[in-house]
Amino acid sequence: MLEVRNIPRAPFPLPTAIPMDPIDAMNDFQGGGMIWRRAFTGTPDQIPHARQLVRVLLADCPRRDDAELIASELAGNAVRHTRSGHAGGEFVVEVARSGQAVTVAVYDSGSDGTPRFGTPCPTGDEYGRGLSIVVALADEVGYEAFRERGHRIWAHLT
Ligand SMILES: Nc1ncnc2c1ncn2[C@@H]1O[C@H](COP(=O)(O)OP(=O)(O)OP(=O)(O)O)[C@@H](O)[C@H]1O
Ligand SMILES: [Mg+2]
Repeated sequence: MLEVRNIPRAPFPLPTAIPMDPIDAMNDFQGGGMIWRRAFTGTPDQIPHARQLVRVLLADCPRRDDAELIASELAGNAVRHTRSGHAGGEFVVEVARSGQAVTVAVYDSGSDGTPRFGTPCPTGDEYGRGLSIVVALADEVGYEAFRERGHRIWAHLT
């Protein structure tokens, strides 16, 4: 089981250009690719920072805009729907690259519910559409449950 521990805590100095020294300290190798993870305080004001992290990491990637939007939706869900959004809560953003393929994932701290893909609310509803957008943009989506600890929700882009 993948552990998400001992990772730096936001707020942090955001990188604005490559090379990204603060991020390089957090990378990881897996199957020939690269993985970055960073924890954010579970408040809505951190979502733009999560987006910026993805933008910087994928500066040279054709799917960067899609990945950024997906990260935003998943982070928003973690904050709105799970204990990540409670006082002292956190969510973690993960970006994995292998060639041009990208996987964006967000870890949350769990709730009584599970992510509902593929059941968008009727057209016109204000909420209940975020995961439909994720499904539309990504080549593949899914999630893993970590028992009571929460979910890792991911989207794969090629
Ligand atoms: N990380 C999560 N953990 C548990 N439940 C989730 C999670 N993400 C989404 N859900 C559930 O799946 C539903 C659908 O999520 P979706 O993002 O499509 O809609 P929403 O967040 O309710 O509204 P919005 O259109 O603003 O995103 C949510 O209403 C919530 O019940
Ligand atoms: Mg949502």
